[in-house]
Amino acid sequence: MPEEMLESKSETGLETGKSPALGAPVIQVESLHKTYDLGEVQVHALRGVSLSVHPGELVAVMGASGSGKSTFMNLIGCLDRPTRGRYLLEGQDVAGLSKRELAAIRNRRIGFVFQGFNLLARTSALENVELPLIYSGVPQQQRLQRARASLKLVGLEGREEHHPSQLSGGQQQRVAIARALVNNPSIVLADEPTGNLDSRTSVEIMEIFQRLNEERNITILLVTHEPDVSRFAKRVIMFRDGKVRCDTEVEDRAVAGEVLATMPVLGEDDDEDAPEEVKG
Ligand SMILES: Nc1ncnc2c1ncn2[C@@H]1O[C@H](COP(=O)(O)OP(=O)(O)OP(=O)(O)O)[C@@H](O)[C@H]1O
Ligand SMILES: [Mg+2]
Repeated sequence: MPEEMLESKSETGLETGKSPALGAPVIQVESLHKTYDLGEVQVHALRGVSLSVHPGELVAVMGASGSGKSTFMNLIGCLDRPTRGRYLLEGQDVAGLSKRELAAIRNRRIGFVFQGFNLLARTSALENVELPLIYSGVPQQQRLQRARASLKLVGLEGREEHHPSQLSGGQQQRVAIARALVNNPSIVLADEPTGNLDSRTSVEIMEIFQRLNEERNITILLVTHEPDVSRFAKRVIMFRDGKVRCDTEVEDRAVAGEVLATMPVLGEDDDEDAPEEVKG
C-alpha cells in the first residue's frame, strides 16, 4: 500500500473513527450528491453522504425504499458518477473519471451481486463465471482454471455445466458470487442479494459472504431490508432521504455457520431416516 494513502487518511479526517486498526480506507466519500434530472423534476437521491469503509469491513446498508441505497451502491461500484462530491477508491480519485476509465476500474477491483442473480440463461455456470475474465482478456486455459476455482469456493464443484434453470435460487446466487469473485476484486457490492431467497438460503449466502470476508479479507457492502440479514454484518449504515441517518457497529454479531446448524434442512434426509420403517 503506497505511503501517501496512509498519509492522506490522517489529513482528510474522513474516517468514521470506527475501525482504527484497519489501515487506509478502501472507500472514502465526502459530500456525495446525486441528482437525477428528469427534465421537469429533479430527484435528489443522495444529499451529502460522507463516510469511509476500511479493508475487511462487512457493511449492511439499510433504509426505507427510495432512501438512496442503490444509488449509493451504484456510485461506489463506479456504475454511475456523482453529481457532486468526492470519491476515493483505494486512494484514487474516481469521481471525475470517464465512463471508459470507470469500466476498467470496475472490472478489476469490484465484484457485483444483484437480487435477481443476473446470469445469462442459456449459458453454463462455468461460462457465466468466465465472462468477466473474457472482458479482461485472460487466456482460455487460465479462464477455465480460475472459473472452476471460483465455483469451488462457493460450494458448486460438480455443477459447472448446469444452466441457471437447472439450479436453485441459492445456487444461482452462488454462481453470481463466483462470477463476482473471479477477478479477485478487493470489494464486493451486493444489492439485496438475499431478496429473492428463503430464510435458510439467505443464511447460506451470508455464510459465504462472512467466509470470504474473514478468510480473504474482501471488503463487502450489501444492501438489505432484513434485520435478520444485517446481524451478520460488522457495521450497519442506515440511509434516510439520501443521507446517512446512523452508522453503527454490530454488537454480538451472528455467525452464519452457527445459525445454519440450528435451522432445519427442508426436503432432505427424509429418506435416510425412514428406511427401517419402510422396509420393516
Ligand atoms: N435512474 C433514475 N432516474 C431517476 N430517479 C431515480 C433513478 N434511480 C433512482 N431514482 C430515484 O432516486 C431515489 C433513490 O432511489 P434508490 O433506488 O437509490 O433507492 P433505494 O434505497 O435503493 O430503494 P429500494 O429499497 O426501493 O431499492 C428514489 O426517489 C428514486 O425514485
Ligand atoms: Mg434499491
